[in-house]
Amino acid sequence: MLALITGASSGIGAEFAKILAHCGCSLILVARRLDRLEELAADILERYDVDISVIDCDLSDDKNCYRLYQTVKDENVDILINNAGFGAYGEFTKTDLEKETRMIDLNCKTVHILTKLFLKDMVKKDSGYILNVASSAGLISGGPYMAAYYATKAYVVSLTRAVNEELSERGSNVYLGALCPGPVDTEFNDVAGVSFGLSGISAKECAIDGVFGMFDERKTIIVPTLKMKLLTYFNKFLPQKPLMKIIGKLQKTKGDL
Ligand SMILES: NC(=O)c1ccc[n+]([C@@H]2O[C@H](COP(=O)([O-])OP(=O)(O)OC[C@H]3O[C@@H](n4cnc5c(N)ncnc54)[C@H](OP(=O)(O)O)[C@@H]3O)[C@@H](O)[C@H]2O)c1
Repeated sequence: MLALITGASSGIGAEFAKILAHCGCSLILVARRLDRLEELAADILERYDVDISVIDCDLSDDKNCYRLYQTVKDENVDILINNAGFGAYGEFTKTDLEKETRMIDLNCKTVHILTKLFLKDMVKKDSGYILNVASSAGLISGGPYMAAYYATKAYVVSLTRAVNEELSERGSNVYLGALCPGPVDTEFNDVAGVSFGLSGISAKECAIDGVFGMFDERKTIIVPTLKMKLLTYFNKFLPQKPLMKIIGKLQKTKGDL
């Protein structure tokens, strides 16, 4: 099988690459930092007999998303991991608008475009897997001081759930799901501008849960760890106003506001 992973140059994406190579998948690794992709590819090739190509590409520009699809479409991608994404921390009136619109482009528009383009081909073949890396933030009603980030991930969860239902109504064998982790120890906090993040699970643990949830359990929404499963479940029953206050207080502890 051939897997395309966006945001493979670090964190959860790099771990997906290692695990899928371990499962025997060939890989197309995409991100902006070519040196990091090449380093990862060399490391994987030392251990596994798979084919790997690397593509450096800024996916926050939609033209590059279409270009990426055109470049790989004849290679028959079996697995798409829409993982590239980042966060932005701060009070909504003070956070940088340009950074936020780039985030919305990458976290929502890119996931939307790539899901649609690859899903059409997979539906024709009636096989394939698409895993959108959302976040537990997307299962919670809102995130004061990371307002736009939470909203982008809610978009991914909502889109994935709805399209998944369309697939299941037509009896499709194509898998579409969303991975919704809580905190994961990666470069995410540095990029988001969070100085004291809550300690999280490892990127490897997160990616293993993602691969297991996709291949073995075929879950629509995959939430790693029991703690996050409980938290996102009980979120539905809590009154929203006090809940926003609690989340806002927790978010404030993550940085200097
Ligand atoms: N860490 C967490 O606590 C956490 C929790 C829940 C969900 N998530 C989600 O998990 C996903 C992976 O994040 P991570 O935690 O592994 O963080 P990370 O280590 O910062 O990885 C982010 C990846 O996205 C790539 N990327 C960023 N901007 C890009 C762009 N414009 N074009 C192409 N690639 C781009 C980065 O590569 P380049 O910089 O080389 O382009 C990098 O490979 C994200 O969608 C994030 O929202 C993270």
